[in-house]
Amino acid sequence: MEQRTALVTGANRGLGAAIADGLAGQGIRVWRGVREGGGTARDVRLDVRDEDSVTAAVRRILDEDGRVDILVNNAGITDGKQAPATADLAVAARVWDTNVLGAWRCAQAVVPGMVSAGYGRIVNIGSTLGSLALMDRPTEPGYRVSKAALNALTRLLAAELAGTGVLVNAASPGWVRTDMSPSATRGPAEGADTPVWLATLPDGGPTGGFFRDREPLAW
Ligand SMILES: NC(=O)c1ccc[n+]([C@@H]2O[C@H](COP(=O)([O-])OP(=O)(O)OC[C@H]3O[C@@H](n4cnc5c(N)ncnc54)[C@H](OP(=O)(O)O)[C@@H]3O)[C@@H](O)[C@H]2O)c1
Repeated sequence: MEQRTALVTGANRGLGAAIADGLAGQGIRVWRGVREGGGTARDVRLDVRDEDSVTAAVRRILDEDGRVDILVNNAGITDGKQAPATADLAVAARVWDTNVLGAWRCAQAVVPGMVSAGYGRIVNIGSTLGSLALMDRPTEPGYRVSKAALNALTRLLAAELAGTGVLVNAASPGWVRTDMSPSATRGPAEGADTPVWLATLPDGGPTGGFFRDREPLAW
């Protein structure tokens, strides 16, 4: 079988590192997007808020591997303890630029190659906190609004790319123990399971969906 190439954003730690490990464990060539440092040959400098950084990272992968088959939009930040009526909108804007526009920038950079190859898997790391159906608490408003928007982007990209061989889905990893959620009960490898599954879907697999634990989740 052909060897696939994947790019995982925010892969230096947390869930992104676990997703990268999970994909590498399946024999996929994994590029780990990192903002700074990066010790291995397949670490690629990538700040999703910086258009030039996104363009340069994808160009480097295309130069070396000639393809990006899989994109996992994992990089994300939260606005933590804000409340909607008093939220600092400069903070919310930074969250939006990272979680929504960052994923959008990366998708735009890889979609043309995926469409011409007739194969692609894009996984947007969403959150149960972004489900409108479950949005009954006023916590982390910048984060929640951004993850709801990321779900919308997932639907729109999936609609545009239907029939091209490019599948676009969103994943909630569950509550995962990382720097973002140090007291969470789920380990990163368990949180990575659904994203890795979506990143390696067979042809004809679902697109435009939102999944947790490999099951559809309410929008
Ligand atoms: N943990 C949970 O319970 C949970 C639940 C649902 C969804 N998620 C989602 O899972 C994803 C990963 O979160 P995590 O829990 O692993 O959090 P984390 O440990 O805080 O990791 C966040 C990652 O995003 C990277 N990042 C932040 N801003 C970036 C930027 N502008 N450009 C590139 N990379 C950037 C960070 O890189 P630096 O090291 O350079 O800051 C880091 O690698 C996020 O999208 C988060 O919303 C997490």
